[in-house]
Amino acid sequence: MIRAPFLIFPLLLTTLPLCAQGKVSFESQIWPILEKRCVECHATPSTGPDGKPKKPKGGVVLDSKDGITTSKKGTLVVAKKPDDSMLYASITLPADHEDRMPPAKKGEPLSKSQTDLIKKWIEEGGELGKWTGKKAEADKADAKPGTDKGKDAGKEKGKKGTPIAQLQAGLQPVPAATLAAFANGPFAVSSLGDDSPLLRVTCAGNSDDVTDKSVEALAPLKAHIAELDLARAHVGDAACAVIATMPRLLTLDLRQTQVGNQGTAKLAACKELRSLNLYGTKVGDYAMAALAELQALENLYVWQTEVSAGAIIRLREAVPGVRVVMANDLPEPMGEGAGNGRRRAGK
Ligand code: HEC
Repeated sequence: MIRAPFLIFPLLLTTLPLCAQGKVSFESQIWPILEKRCVECHATPSTGPDGKPKKPKGGVVLDSKDGITTSKKGTLVVAKKPDDSMLYASITLPADHEDRMPPAKKGEPLSKSQTDLIKKWIEEGGELGKWTGKKAEADKADAKPGTDKGKDAGKEKGKKGTPIAQLQAGLQPVPAATLAAFANGPFAVSSLGDDSPLLRVTCAGNSDDVTDKSVEALAPLKAHIAELDLARAHVGDAACAVIATMPRLLTLDLRQTQVGNQGTAKLAACKELRSLNLYGTKVGDYAMAALAELQALENLYVWQTEVSAGAIIRLREAVPGVRVVMANDLPEPMGEGAGNGRRRAGK
């Protein structure tokens, strides 16, 4: 399927944040960039899982208000002076400069629209608003009633977590005869784990053969599907009506399908959804309001869609802790290896 990706992409990342939005908001526009590209090396000192202390690189702390205002004796962000601000200097060095941030081994430099946004934010005063830091954010998510779905939920991150244990408690496995019907494709159906009755269903490799009708055929598995990968399949809103009947769905990949607002809004019924990939779909702002129901949502991919920055800000307010990805930063396709389909590069 060929689309015209470059038309929409600059519109979202450049035009909207810079012009239509007015003042740049640290919390909703700058922090997501720092969190994604910097904080892994520039977090508040802590003790790692191995018991060893983890120190921020170069003494620069970017995940708290204190860190940002006091690192490098306050020269990290100098209000109204991007050129005097080390933060801005570090991201605008030439791509091959050894001090460029993030370091070359960590991938591409920030895009021009991202560095421009940071520049504008500093020019406007470099204020942090109500944001006080990553930790405070996590505490806020914890305190919110209804997000802690049990003891397994979000131990480490103080976040919502993936409650596989609760989801599969008491669930009988799908009878072998039912599963046998799927042996000839187009879906690959497998268990989420050795003894788990939960299922992972992907159409990887066969996406051309998968239509709304094929998705209807998944109905007998609807109580068991936890991961569903329909990336690039020939499916649209009708498939979403079927998906909306899957109460244990945690991860859904609809990238580059014909799914639009009507279908996406129906997904509000999948209350356990943690990750939703709508990259390159026809979705827009209308569906974002409906998705505010998905209080467990952790990752939402809307790159190359018509979703506006404003709709995303509203969604972030409605769903604390959700990470909305508007850039080319997509998870690995699921179905390869264990886990929820996300893998960390490098390690
Ligand atoms: C892979 C780890 C890593 C990532 C990711 C990373 N940095 Fe760094 N950063 C370092 C290291 C290591 C140093 C210390 C370099 C030194 O002291 O020579 C450093 C130093 C810095 C400094 C101080 C530079 C100086 O001259 O003292 C700033 C500012 C900085 N980083 C900003 C950022 C920003 C902004 C990002 C995200 C866009 C980022 N870093 C992402 C590893 C990283």
